Amino acid sequence: MQALHWTCAALCILSCVGTGFAQDVIILQSESGNIIFTHKKHQEAVKDCTTCHKTAPGSIRKSGQYRPHKLCIGCHENRKSGPVNCVDCHKESGS
Ligand code: HEC
Ligand code: HEC
Ligand code: HEC
Repeated sequence: MQALHWTCAALCILSCVGTGFAQDVIILQSESGNIIFTHKKHQEAVKDCTTCHKTAPGSIRKSGQYRPHKLCIGCHENRKSGPVNCVDCHKESGS
């Protein structure tokens, strides 16, 4: 939990300083437990923005093209890298 609190604190600072760039870490809200998405780390690991952002960089969630389980778990399976189990993504609260 301590780590989560620090993440939140860091997010608050980043969102104030940020200018059009995505935050390094994005908390994706979910009733099943929020997901800590390391956006910057993914940018570095994946390189091509269009792998996830089909049209243009920005909020995918609002684009109607967001199929998170297919996108996220699909790649993790393909690369044999990254979590595929529920609780390894859905961490905060819920189950
Ligand atoms: C592994 C998938 C993935 C890759 C690769 C990726 N993104 Fe994202 N990006 C996301 C997700 C997931 C979100 C957050 C969900 C949402 O609101 O769309 C996001 C959000 C964003 C946002 C909006 C941030 C906000 O706070 O609303 C911007 C801008 C963005 N990305 C730019 C980029 C750029 C530029 C690149 C390439 C250098 C990139 N992304 C690569 C998955 C990715
Ligand atoms: C195109 C490939 C790709 C996509 C799409 C992708 N990931 Fe990943 N993900 C990775 C790789 C590769 C790693 C391992 C990174 C490492 O350990 O260096 C990873 C690691 C992770 C981790 C482990 C902790 C961390 O950040 O290192 C989490 C959590 C995670 N991904 C969540 C997500 C979520 C949520 C999405 C969808 C919004 C997503 N990923 C989409 C490739 C992807
Ligand atoms: C790779 C990470 C990852 C894994 C593994 C994963 N999820 Fe998710 N899940 C997500 C993301 C990201 C969202 C969308 C959150 C958002 O709205 O941005 C999501 C959304 C959901 C939703 C939609 C409703 C809600 O709470 O927002 C449910 C239900 C859910 N997941 C359950 C599960 C279950 C059950 C499993 C295991 C079988 C699982 N997830 C595995 C990342 C993951």
